[in-house]
Amino acid sequence: MKAKLIEQFKEIFGTDEDVRAYFAPGRVNLIGEHTDYNGGHVFPCALTIGTYAIVRKRTDDVLRFYSANFSSLGIIESNLNDLVPSEAAGWTNYPKGVMWAFEKRGYKLTSGMDILIYGNIPNGSGLSSSASLEVLTGVVLKDIFGFDVSMIDIALIGQYSENNFNGCNCGIMDQFASAMGKKDNAIFLDTNSLHYEYAPVVLEDAKIVIINSKVKHSLVDSAYNDRRNECETALKELQEVVDIKTLGDLSEEEFEAHKSAIKSTIRQKRAKHAVYENQRTIKAVAALKANDIETFGKLMNASHISLRDDYEVSCKEIDILVDLAWKTDGVIGSRITGGGFGGCTVSIVKNDAVDNFIETIGQMYEEQVGHKAEFYVVDIGDGAGVLA
Ligand code: GLA
Repeated sequence: MKAKLIEQFKEIFGTDEDVRAYFAPGRVNLIGEHTDYNGGHVFPCALTIGTYAIVRKRTDDVLRFYSANFSSLGIIESNLNDLVPSEAAGWTNYPKGVMWAFEKRGYKLTSGMDILIYGNIPNGSGLSSSASLEVLTGVVLKDIFGFDVSMIDIALIGQYSENNFNGCNCGIMDQFASAMGKKDNAIFLDTNSLHYEYAPVVLEDAKIVIINSKVKHSLVDSAYNDRRNECETALKELQEVVDIKTLGDLSEEEFEAHKSAIKSTIRQKRAKHAVYENQRTIKAVAALKANDIETFGKLMNASHISLRDDYEVSCKEIDILVDLAWKTDGVIGSRITGGGFGGCTVSIVKNDAVDNFIETIGQMYEEQVGHKAEFYVVDIGDGAGVLA
């Protein structure tokens, strides 16, 4: 991959002298959805698909971007003096946002760059193509300019840029997973303290299978920010009657005892999801550690029901995929993954059932929805870094 991309860099930018190569993965979240901006736990893992960059430092302030995924757009040119979001900048708003965020933190970018990007995560599929591009940019800047930033800083800067430059009020999960991923491990992250622990996901008899519904979501346009606001209001209402900092501070019992403080049924449902999903995540990681994959799967299923009915971030196509999975032999658990409103499901499927899973669900989904789904049997990869 690296050699091919360097070759392409040379064709586009005229030289491959002193280029450096980088990679940042996408992620799949196993459980703990819409908890990361509610002070709860998440359990994502980095994938082996992600976003690549080939970069060459320039001697002036010019930024030249080229995406092999959007080759018809050609080179998109900008400048270090022009780090402001604009519609015309398209996908380059993501790397530019991260550059802006570094400068805002006092890290001076002393020269422009030529940057070639290639990603193999399907865009808008809920597998964090944008977070991987942000983390990738962070890794590039750290390496090219020798900035003393940790991988967690890079995740936080990526999130900051997405919130303040790109207008999506996302939590920290995606950038954290892309920056801090570890092969064959998921990350049990407390988003309140950023305390984290790696948990080996060694599924001897099963595989993680992602299904892309091919219904695209856009977090900015979607109700993602609305959900966040609803939870913030619910938290304020609860704080009138109980001393908590986040919804993640509540157990299920405490929530039930105090929920009447939330003055709308919709907000009660949203907060219920945040509280119960956090507790489910804690239970799921304990089950995994105890090698009780059946319980892990049941908690995944419960997570989906809660996201569908209480948080209302699923959609018809995703529910069809999950329903089909639940009815298929050898499926340990299945749920929507990521921000929602389309995108992907994640399922744990017994090894000997995977072929039938893909064939049967593929066929039935197409019959019911009218277009094909895509299936990925995935491996858990490492976090972002320089490509040797
Ligand atoms: C998106 C956001 C994350 C997280 C998930 C839902 O992926 O970027 O921060 O909130 O949705 O769990």
